[in-house]
Amino acid sequence: MSFVGSSSHLPPPLPVHTEHALPLLRNSTPQFVSKYFSKINTMIRTISYLLEDINMDVPATILVTLSAIFSVIWYGWIYAKSMKRSSSLPPGPRGLPLIGNLASLEPDIHSYFAKLAQTHGPIFKLQLGSKLGIVVTSPSLASEVLKDHDITFANRDIPDVSRAMDYGRSNIVATPYGPEWRMLRKVCVAKMLSNATLDSLYPLRSREVRNTIKYIYSHAGSPINVGDQLFLTVFNVVTSMLWGGTVLGKDRASLGAEFRGVVAEMTELLSKPNVSDFFPSLARFDLQGVVKKMRGLAMKFEQIFEKMIDKRLKVDENGTRDAARSRSIECEDFLGFLLKLKDEGDPKTPLTMTHVKALLMDMVVGGTETSSNAVEFAMAEIMRKPEVMRKAQQELDEVIGKDRMVQESDINKLPYLYAIMKESLRLHPVLPLLVPHCPSQTCTVGGYTIPKGVRVFVNVWAIHRDPTVWENPLDFNPERFLNGSSKWDYSGSDLSYFPFGSGRRSCAGIAMAERMFMYFLATLLHCFDWELPEGKEPDLSEKFGIVIKLKNPLVVIPAPRLPDPNLYE
Ligand code: HEM
Repeated sequence: MSFVGSSSHLPPPLPVHTEHALPLLRNSTPQFVSKYFSKINTMIRTISYLLEDINMDVPATILVTLSAIFSVIWYGWIYAKSMKRSSSLPPGPRGLPLIGNLASLEPDIHSYFAKLAQTHGPIFKLQLGSKLGIVVTSPSLASEVLKDHDITFANRDIPDVSRAMDYGRSNIVATPYGPEWRMLRKVCVAKMLSNATLDSLYPLRSREVRNTIKYIYSHAGSPINVGDQLFLTVFNVVTSMLWGGTVLGKDRASLGAEFRGVVAEMTELLSKPNVSDFFPSLARFDLQGVVKKMRGLAMKFEQIFEKMIDKRLKVDENGTRDAARSRSIECEDFLGFLLKLKDEGDPKTPLTMTHVKALLMDMVVGGTETSSNAVEFAMAEIMRKPEVMRKAQQELDEVIGKDRMVQESDINKLPYLYAIMKESLRLHPVLPLLVPHCPSQTCTVGGYTIPKGVRVFVNVWAIHRDPTVWENPLDFNPERFLNGSSKWDYSGSDLSYFPFGSGRRSCAGIAMAERMFMYFLATLLHCFDWELPEGKEPDLSEKFGIVIKLKNPLVVIPAPRLPDPNLYE
């Protein structure tokens, strides 16, 4: 008797009738059922083959065969049970054939996901066309995704529209985890947005903030749209930092307006639901024409960038900025700084011209709407709680006084204002579902299987409002972040509070966001008292987007509070 035999020596396989399968298998996938039966087949064929070689009488043969079959089925059942447990997906709402749950999505996706979590639990699945989505809504599960499996989830599911631009896939947000992403992230966090570089670019931020204050002063007593002013200021600050040392005067203003138009159209297109993302096999048809539209915008964007880069290179060649050149390049602007890095880069992972454009784009897309919407939410909450405005102004008067303007270096001396910022980012984390993550391999979270390539949403918005973590979670109460509450920093170490994300793919611009938020809010509250127009109530309703915003823009009336009018000039 030989125990060694290739399967070609075995009897033919038994036919598989899945309709008579064990109850346990009825809900299993076809692949699993056929794998299960093929294993049983092989075992039965092996046993029969072995029994052929042993000289036994017929009843004994039947008995042994039956007990062998029984053992095989028993083994199969145990095997199937363990497989089912380990390969099961999270629960989730039932969907329709083909489109899955797409038809039942509500416009405010973050609050809709929070509602679904109450029925289906802290981890659930959604079928989004042919794509599987997984939503995570608890600190412990968020920690599994962003800490325990940090590297696996340090990738993105890139929207199809980004193929319209060369640099749409070469930026920090989109690049998959690996040496190229590490190089870009290092350039961004350790160089462009380091404290030293940000300090050297302070004059550019200060210039833009002062321009805004002058504008608001000229409209004292009239209602102004705070969000518009904030967006314009942040946009000017960010573009100033990009190339403010290269383009000056009227050129800068006209270029700013042109650039802002293109960016606004681009972000709108990026937020638009696209059939190609739900049914990747249809992507090549670009049914909604999104990629085509984006190509047009990308060309305009490209022209603006080319113009800037050309100008910058000419400036350097002609040596007309000798004074600036003799200082360190970081004192000028990001563009000059990146072009210099490009020439000096590491040959193994070089910084290409495409990367330079992609990084500039990251600053604009990642840094503008996020920061301005965050400050607008804080102002709206303050309008609802006048005592918070009074306390913040009292702190500003004590630390800065009324005879000078706020400077960025003052922001570390304002703990109450800092608590306002944290509380506002708790109630309104402007990226409520972070930027969706995508696992590079199949793994297990909360005991469920998360297949490679799915889209994972971490609902930080819902976690920040979880009553088991936060006392009176819907109350805007900056005091909760004062005295002894320092455990809630936003470094991402505590997954009960992480408005900037956590782990490797957390926000690359925290240092800049913090400075801009604090400096803008401090300046607005120091320079003006604010009132709502007669009969208006503050409205904190949110409108979902990758970046959330107020559904109804905040319109308020400023009244100057500094005695010296020259300070507003
Ligand atoms: C209040 C303002 C801001 C908030 C609340 C915020 C929040 C976030 C969040 C939640 C993420 C995604 C984290 C994740 O997916 O796990 C992110 C990513 C990112 N943010 Fe911010 N952000 C802000 C401002 C900024 C600014 C000012 C910049 C740059 C100038 C910036 C640049 C980026 C970049 C480049 C990424 C992608 C990081 C990566 O994928 O490696 N952000 N931000």
